[in-house]
Amino acid sequence: MTPVVLIAEELAPAAIEVLAHDFDVRHVDGTDRPALLSALSEADAVIVRSATQIDAEAIAAAPRLKVVARAGVGLDNVEVPAATARGVMVVNAPTSNIVSAAEQALALLLAVARNTASASAALKAGEWKRSKYTGVEIQGKTVGVVGLGRIGVLFAQRIAAFGTRLIAYDPYIQPARAAQLGVRLVGLEELLRESDFISIHLPKTPETVGLIGEKELAVVKPGVRIINAARGGLVDEQALADAIAEGRVAGAGVDVYAKEPCTSSPLFGLDNVVATPHLGASTGEAQDKAGLAVAKSVKLALQGEFVPDA
Ligand code: NAD
Ligand code: MLT
Repeated sequence: MTPVVLIAEELAPAAIEVLAHDFDVRHVDGTDRPALLSALSEADAVIVRSATQIDAEAIAAAPRLKVVARAGVGLDNVEVPAATARGVMVVNAPTSNIVSAAEQALALLLAVARNTASASAALKAGEWKRSKYTGVEIQGKTVGVVGLGRIGVLFAQRIAAFGTRLIAYDPYIQPARAAQLGVRLVGLEELLRESDFISIHLPKTPETVGLIGEKELAVVKPGVRIINAARGGLVDEQALADAIAEGRVAGAGVDVYAKEPCTSSPLFGLDNVVATPHLGASTGEAQDKAGLAVAKSVKLALQGEFVPDA
């Protein structure tokens, strides 16, 4: 019987083509839970992005499942221990979208610094208001990077070209590695107190959820601008909205939300918030790389071959 590969979210056409050659490729909307559980009953592999929850219940519903493939970086929507306990392999594409994600964080930072989104919306609505949308320069500012991993490093390298002073909080990085990048490692509180811009590049784990909440936002440098293109829930949305409304935080760029899809957030009513619907990896290049990487891994796994790191 031809193995079934279930695609639960949008995947690059080139990747589907690779899989369709050898497998019975089926599609389901991974956010439609009953449909997902039903489709999983015949699946040998399932491919997801970030919206589909592959938890213990989903794995139990898939008796033939051999591999869960995440076409992207974050694995927070896959219950890896439950998969491992059942002998199901979990693969991702850890470098596929890192450039796109770092560029999205930069785009949000620039847009927040210069009020680009609100000025554009106002002008299109017929308002020519130049002084209302006065921004700030990035040159000479202190930029705090929270999480100096693959994306944090790419972001730091790019923002350095603006003539910034870079500090980072990441207890798992060697100071020598940070120094090589021209970044000074500091504690979280020092980063919060000193940064003019803060950009978050953390995975979502029990340790990182709520890392930036009311208490942390109370000690930030007044006028800081905060960017989160990593995961929703790392920054408390209500606490951030309150800090912006009180004027302590001057603005925010937000790509990710505690609950997605998200069409209502306390942040959406604020003029100085630039909000995008989880677009960090949404480029043609990143989707091709992620799709092809997981298609290759799924193919090897289902053919019983060794699966190298993507
Ligand atoms: P990575 O694993 O290379 O880097 C994560 C860094 O966070 C590591 O250096 C690690 O030491 C650090 N870290 C972990 N726990 C920490 C803690 N408690 N405090 C401080 N630092 C901590 O991952 P990456 O490739 O840089 O990706 C980071 C995250 O970005 C992903 O997990 C994913 O959730 C998110 N992401 C979002 C998009 C998007 O579309 N918006 C795209 C890609 C990735
Ligand atoms: C990721 O972790 O790779 C991102 O959130 C991208 C995505 O799933 O779209």
